[in-house]
Amino acid sequence: MTIESAPDSVVPAGIPTSGLLSTGSEWWRTAVIYQIYPRSFADSTGDGVGDLPGITRRLPALAELGVDAVWLSPFFTSPQKDAGYDVSDYCDVDPRFGTLEDFDRMLATAHELDLKVIADMVPNHTSSAHPWFIEALASPEGSPERDRYMFRDGKGKNGDEAPNNWESVFGGSMWNRITNPDGTPGQWYLHIFDSSQPDLNWENPWVREQFHGILRFWLDRGVDGFRVDVAHGMIKEAGLPDYTPPPEGASMGGALPTTSDDLVLDLSHADTALAPGITDPPAPNPDPPYWGQEGVHDIWRGWHSVLAEYEGDRVLCAEAWVDPLTKMALWVRPDEMSQAFNFDYMFSDWTAESQRAVIDRSIAAFSGVGAPSTWVLSNHDVVRHASRLALTAENPQGAGIGPGSPGQPEPVLGLRRARAATSLMLSLPGSSYLYQGEELGLPEAVNLPDSARQDPTWFRTKGEKYGRDGCRVPIPWEADKPAYGFNSSGKSWLPQPADWAPYARDSQEGIPGSTLEMYRTALAVRRERHLASGTVSWLNGYGRDVIAFRNGEVTVIANLGKVAVELPVGNILLASEPITGGALPSDTTVWVLRS
Ligand code: NOJ
Repeated sequence: MTIESAPDSVVPAGIPTSGLLSTGSEWWRTAVIYQIYPRSFADSTGDGVGDLPGITRRLPALAELGVDAVWLSPFFTSPQKDAGYDVSDYCDVDPRFGTLEDFDRMLATAHELDLKVIADMVPNHTSSAHPWFIEALASPEGSPERDRYMFRDGKGKNGDEAPNNWESVFGGSMWNRITNPDGTPGQWYLHIFDSSQPDLNWENPWVREQFHGILRFWLDRGVDGFRVDVAHGMIKEAGLPDYTPPPEGASMGGALPTTSDDLVLDLSHADTALAPGITDPPAPNPDPPYWGQEGVHDIWRGWHSVLAEYEGDRVLCAEAWVDPLTKMALWVRPDEMSQAFNFDYMFSDWTAESQRAVIDRSIAAFSGVGAPSTWVLSNHDVVRHASRLALTAENPQGAGIGPGSPGQPEPVLGLRRARAATSLMLSLPGSSYLYQGEELGLPEAVNLPDSARQDPTWFRTKGEKYGRDGCRVPIPWEADKPAYGFNSSGKSWLPQPADWAPYARDSQEGIPGSTLEMYRTALAVRRERHLASGTVSWLNGYGRDVIAFRNGEVTVIANLGKVAVELPVGNILLASEPITGGALPSDTTVWVLRS
């Protein structure tokens, strides 16, 4: 192996780019938050769909992993047309997942284990089965019931053309025409997502009041906060003007690039510390008229006030696919939300240059408003990072990967990069999100049969996009049990790959070097060394493909190049791959306590 020599002396001459990253002592500023996707986490009934009692039973495993909080994707009453993001009763639990009493037991168990619990609020749209929508359909045009949603007259002769040209995130038109109670064709309603998910009219004060009540319902039960679905989409530009998205098509956020190539800054980082004051690159496209409108901020100020009525530090986390980060930071100003997912980071290229730049951009943007940056690599809407980081073809968010996708990921390389990326992420100051199964190194389930697919994206694009099922397969707990211990019946709402036994939790438990043990060590050291409340000080002297910084007493070095580099002398606290001979191999991250 060729080893590039390290600088004569590794001088921590870095400039603290972060300054005071985040102001305040609330728990969420530094938390590691683990996303549970309830239908795929643990199934107590054996029906093939996970549930709340299943979660309760497995919570000790998460406490022991070392996370601070769990965020549960929706478990509310829902026809499940979009896996629960189509809610028909916000104040009850869907029978598939259990009961309100099961929720209370789960929450109490989590709190006993010192885990906070974050619920997933879905305010942009309801299910078409929600009583409000059913009332709207039964009520005349112009009625208060209709005004809760986005109804409009059609264009053209007889109103038989959609009110505008907007395309649904899931494919097809964003509009659906209704049939009046007397059988005649009626108005059209807007749905950014599936036609079973009509958008609410957030200009209507009645809608705002209802949601304040819903928040209080769950806060009264003791939840520690909310992840807020589509927090960038609730207000639409007045007049609903036509809009044509960029060629790669609609996604959760129209202006986000599919890769971060177009975000790479024109800065040379080779062998130099970064200058402070990095600014965002210009956004590649103007915001679509249904994303990122100024009017959403008033809604968040209202929600902030509701949470402030409660004791303890309750959190609001925005799912806001807006770009650039300086704009996203507006969602987390002191009187709005607490934190926002950092999708710019998630989609940054696996190159040292891109990673350094996005870390700087993130810290600068969020600290500018006194909020912590968040860091996230996987969730239920994107290709798992153990696969995504080894894709060799463009893959826009939501497209997914299946057997026919170009640029298939190479699993060994993907996992190696994922481990390096996670080790880098967990060393950064701020709050990090983990998605269930990534601690096992799970790859995307690429070879799902078409007949098993359930994502509305797959149906609405007529199979052109595989969608998100590949990251949603029930996770493996025990290698030799039915459904890998997901339940005792062996049923699974999406088929689990036959080769997942080595990923099972019990295959990795106590095995040095396993991905599970790597996560456990990272979380323990992160806590012990206070990395989440530290600062990033870039280090001089490493090659351009190497990321090197100090956070407190820990030196973090990630080699994203092809050639091994020499390591400084010290005690290795964490290594994403085995280290031999004082060299840091390619696609590897280490945390070193320098001697
Ligand atoms: C974002 C959620 O994460 C995704 O899963 C869902 O399909 C859309 N919002 C619509 O609610």
